[in-house]
Amino acid sequence: MKERLEKILGDALTQISGGADPEQIRIQYLGKKGELTAVLRGMGQLSPEERPMIGQLANDVRVKIEEALDKANEALKAKQLEEKLKNEKLDVTMPVSPLATGHHHPLSLTQREMEEIFIGLGFSIIEGPEVEYDYYNFQALNIPENHPARDTQDTFYITDNILLRSQTSPVQVHAMETQRPPLRVVSPGRVYRSDALDATHSPLFHQFEGLVVDKGITMGDLKGVLDAFAKKMFGENTRTRFRPHHFPFTEPSAEVDVSCFACGGKGCRLCKNEGWIEILGAGMVHPFVLSNCNINPEEYSGFAFGMGIERVAMIKYGVDDIRLFYENNQRFLEQF
Ligand code: DAH
Repeated sequence: MKERLEKILGDALTQISGGADPEQIRIQYLGKKGELTAVLRGMGQLSPEERPMIGQLANDVRVKIEEALDKANEALKAKQLEEKLKNEKLDVTMPVSPLATGHHHPLSLTQREMEEIFIGLGFSIIEGPEVEYDYYNFQALNIPENHPARDTQDTFYITDNILLRSQTSPVQVHAMETQRPPLRVVSPGRVYRSDALDATHSPLFHQFEGLVVDKGITMGDLKGVLDAFAKKMFGENTRTRFRPHHFPFTEPSAEVDVSCFACGGKGCRLCKNEGWIEILGAGMVHPFVLSNCNINPEEYSGFAFGMGIERVAMIKYGVDDIRLFYENNQRFLEQF
């Protein structure tokens, strides 16, 4: 019986180390009908003296086979895992199909750049409503009813005294009503005019308004700020030129040109051979506008300016048709 047990152990270990399926071996030797189980069953026929010795030996054999089986199982699992990992291996150097990413619209880029420049000059950014009372869009800005300036801004009226703002200047009034001087704000936003769409007009476009109010503000401050802006926006060699003009809400008023950064002022296609490009309207805040907002014009003065964001973008990027900004043509937008 001892030999039988030793043979069982030897056979089982040889089979296991030979790579046989551990489950198969378990059934063959340790299962209900297994070889070792059969030996154990026959123990009853042994003499009482032999029984403990053979019992001990049989037990040792079982433990050894089980240990060998556990080891084989572990090795098998490790091998399976390794194979699985090998098959799942990811080649991170493999090129992927290109993914189209979005980016900012040229008008947003232009507005951002303008905002950054004025933030750098100590201005805060504020916003105002696009649906306005006639009072804010016109009356408070020294444009009473029947004033001819109303005709130059073909306005979309919602009711007799509610309209879509035709300029960002009403934000000046909101700013002066809600904040006390010193005031240094810029306000970008949409404006609306019932213009037919063509290469230079759109019923919806964007303006960028600026307002400074404090004691002792002069036209020199206005010139300095706009000059600094122009140099940052269009290049260090850019010069500015103020031409007398008229706006009801400023006195004196000016239209401001920048020297053409494409030709340096010699004259080219961009500046239509003028050497200068008009970019904005500006002036000293009219005393009436200050008093309309309860700011004493004897004590305070201010300057204001307003420019079209589309216009700045067209000049900066050499775009000759405003409609390109609204058509969402991928080939146009991808260039920015
Ligand atoms: N609101 C004017 C327009 O739409 C632009 C403008 C001119 C704004 C002079 C100003 C200013 O603040 O001082 O044409």
